[in-house]
Amino acid sequence: MRMLDLIEHKKRGGEHATADIRALVEGYQAGDVPDYQMAAWLMAVRWRGMSLAETEALTWAMAESGERLDLSGLPRPWVDKHSTGGVGDKLTLIVVPLLVAAGATVIKLSGRGLGHTGGTVDKLGAIPGLRLFMETAELVECARRAGGCLAGHSSSLVPADGLIYALRDVTATVDSLPLIAASIMSKKLASGAETMVFDVKVGRGGLLRNLEEARALARTMLAIAERAGRRAVALLTAMDQPLGMAVGNALEVNEAVEVLRGGGPRDVRLLSVALAGAALWAAGAADSTAGGESEAAVLLDSGAGLRSFEGIIGAQGGDTAAALQPGGLHLRGPGHKVSAPAAGVIMDIDAHAVGMASVVLGAGRSRKGEDVDPGAGVQLHVRAGERVATGQPLATIYAAGQSRLQAGMERLACAFVLAGDNTGPSAAPGAVPAKGALSAGNALRARTGGLVLERIEAGASP
Ligand code: URA
Repeated sequence: MRMLDLIEHKKRGGEHATADIRALVEGYQAGDVPDYQMAAWLMAVRWRGMSLAETEALTWAMAESGERLDLSGLPRPWVDKHSTGGVGDKLTLIVVPLLVAAGATVIKLSGRGLGHTGGTVDKLGAIPGLRLFMETAELVECARRAGGCLAGHSSSLVPADGLIYALRDVTATVDSLPLIAASIMSKKLASGAETMVFDVKVGRGGLLRNLEEARALARTMLAIAERAGRRAVALLTAMDQPLGMAVGNALEVNEAVEVLRGGGPRDVRLLSVALAGAALWAAGAADSTAGGESEAAVLLDSGAGLRSFEGIIGAQGGDTAAALQPGGLHLRGPGHKVSAPAAGVIMDIDAHAVGMASVVLGAGRSRKGEDVDPGAGVQLHVRAGERVATGQPLATIYAAGQSRLQAGMERLACAFVLAGDNTGPSAAPGAVPAKGALSAGNALRARTGGLVLERIEAGASP
C-alpha cells in the first residue's frame, strides 16, 4: 500500500495488515517515508487507535529494527521491569538489585526524563563515574559479572522506536495507548527478558490519569508479552502523591540506598517489595505473590539487595563509596527551607506540582537535550495527612542560583493543600490513594497500604 493510502485507511478507522505496518516502519527508518507523512499517520492512530494485532505488528517491527540482546549463557530467570514513570519513582534502583540478589539476570535499560517525571538514567547520572551507555556486548558482559545492569537505551537496540518517539514528541502523539504499548514492548522484547513486571502508574503525577486507561495499557502490554511467549504481570499503582520523600536525581539515589539499607520511606519499601515479589512469582521463583514479597523483604533486610546494587554500580565503573554512603551523593547548595504559612493539616501534596518544582530547580528538563543538575531537587519533610505548626519546614529545595530557587519555591507552594486548624477532616497519615481509582479491595492492596490499586496477569483480555 502507498503511504498516502495507509494514512487515508487509518484516518477512516481501517485496520492495517502486518506487512503494511512493517513496510511503514522500515520505510521510515530508511528515510523513504518523510516525517510529514509519518506524523499524519501517527495522528490518525492517535484518534482512531489500533487493534491488538496492529499494535503487536508495530511492536515487532520496531523490536526487529536493530540488534537484540542475546542472554543465552546468563543465569535464568531473565527478568525486566518497567514503570510508566512517576514523581519520585526510584523503584528501579531497588527492585533490580533485589531481583539480582534473588538470582535473576536483569538488564534494565531506561530513558532520560522529559517533563515532570524524572528518568532513571538521569538519576543514575548522579553517581560519579557510572558508565550509562554501553553497546550490547558490554551490557551482557556487565550482567555476567554483576547479575544485571542499570543503563540507558543503547542506540543499536530498537532504533525505529527512537526515531518514531522523537517525532511523536513534537507532534502531540505521545498520548496514544497503542503507540505507548508498542514503544515499551518493542524495547522489552529486544532486550531479551522472559519475564516482565510492569508498574503502571495512575494519577496526576503519572503519564495516565485514570484507572481505565492504565488498565487498557497494562492489558495490551500483557497480551503482547503473552503472545510472544513471555510471562508478565502488571501492578497498577497510585501516583497522585510523590513516591517517597525525595524528588531529584542525587536525592532519589540517596533515598533508594536508604531503602536498600533497610530504612527509608514506607511507601517506597512497600512498592519495591510488591514489584519484586510479583516479578519473582511471574518468573516461577516463588509460588505466590505473597511468597515472592516475603523473599524480597528478606533480601532487603539482609543487605543482599544492597550488595547487588554495589556489584552493579562497580561493574559499570561507578563510585560505589559515594553511592552507598548514606546521603553520599552531592546536593546543590545548602538547601532552602519551604515552611508552612499556618498551622493545620496537610490535606494533599500534588505530585505533578512537586515534579514541576523539581524541573524548574534544574533536576529535570523541559526541552530535549537540556542538561540536568544531579544535585537539584526537593526533599519533602511531611506527608499528606500530617499536622504541621506555623513555620514548620515542609520541604528543603536544592538548586544552583537564586532565580531557580525562587521559581522552585513558587511551584512548590502550589503543591501543598493545607487545611487550617478549624477546617476539614484530618486524613490518616501515609499514602493517599488515587482519587476515584479504588475498586474492590484485595490482599495485595491491603499489604501495600492502598498503593497497589490492581494487579493484572497475562491472560486478561485487552
Ligand atoms: N515510555 C516509552 O518507552 N514509550 C512511550 O511511548 C511512552 C513512555
